[in-house]
Amino acid sequence: MVLGLFVIIQFVPYGRDHSNPPVVAEPAWDSPTTRELSVRSCFDCHSNETKWAWYSNIAPLSWLIQNHVEEGREELNFSEWHLDHEGEEAAETVRDGSMPTRGYLLMHSEARLSDVELSALVSGLATTLGDEGNGENDEGQSERDDADEHDDDAHEGDD
Ligand code: HEC
Repeated sequence: MVLGLFVIIQFVPYGRDHSNPPVVAEPAWDSPTTRELSVRSCFDCHSNETKWAWYSNIAPLSWLIQNHVEEGREELNFSEWHLDHEGEEAAETVRDGSMPTRGYLLMHSEARLSDVELSALVSGLATTLGDEGNGENDEGQSERDDADEHDDDAHEGDD
């Protein structure tokens, strides 16, 4: 039964589009490193240069992946930077760990960044695209690691 269903869903046309429209305009990257780190951890869902993995051909994963890429490109497309986008939120999403998505990191070891690379990406994105979450646009985002431990109202102590 399950196998039959698995075979049948492969015929659903959604999820096999795998389009990569032309690259129109990228943001004015502050450095090649920021771009390189973004390529590694964001471009599959937020650019027109998606690398479609082999399992992106297999339903139901293909549906999920197609949906992530469509929604991701809608929110933020590094290849169509002249359109509306959520650039000022990009640094914040990396800082708070919501991007790249957890499921994606499970499947893509190359997108897992070291702490040093993460803070380089956060400050690079902030400089390149602005930073809604932080007011100031320069380096100095090394508090990332402590952030989890000290939540808003955990300020007991001898301060
Ligand atoms: C697996 C695909 C995927 C990857 C990889 C990914 N994103 Fe996303 N991203 C999405 C999807 C889907 C949405 C829209 C729905 C949502 O917000 O969860 C989104 C939304 C966003 C938004 C809009 C604001 C928000 O929180 O919804 C920003 C900004 C963003 N991503 C930045 C990034 C950055 C920066 C990276 C790389 C460090 C990245 N994303 C990697 C799929 C992805």
